[in-house]
Amino acid sequence: TTNRTFTMIKPDAVAEGNSGAIIKMIEEAGFRIVAVKKFQLTKDRAGEFYAVHSARPFYNDLCAYMSSGPIIPMILEKENAVADFRKLIGATNPAQAEEGTIRKLFAKSIEANAIHGSDSDENAKIEGDFFFAGVEQF
Ligand code: CMP
Repeated sequence: TTNRTFTMIKPDAVAEGNSGAIIKMIEEAGFRIVAVKKFQLTKDRAGEFYAVHSARPFYNDLCAYMSSGPIIPMILEKENAVADFRKLIGATNPAQAEEGTIRKLFAKSIEANAIHGSDSDENAKIEGDFFFAGVEQF
């Protein structure tokens, strides 16, 4: 059934001018952009988004990186959205990402890995609501 996922293009990919190429791949893979914006997180706000990782050794670096420049959060819609989008972006570590995936093409490292994709329908809703008001999710 048609459903939604949440993504954000991360600071490394935005700064290098790769956001257009990434959005083109997303649309060519059949995803409809439901909502989109571009802005910069504060470090505190990045920390709230990644609160689930707060005990991890990479948490502080991750929050600094995610607030280092503009990001492009989006809500996307497609049949089987969460699983299909994770296939499109590839493994978290670009060294392990399959050929042709967004991370294989654009990620710099396991941290600066170009793009985020929600890991469940439940998290897609929580993460989309973090960035977009209900009236923006048409
Ligand atoms: P993502 O899966 O979108 O959300 C959690 C992020 O934490 C992940 O992308 C990476 O940017 C980062 N991350 C995950 N694992 C590591 C790691 N081992 N070292 C540094 N950063 C990581």
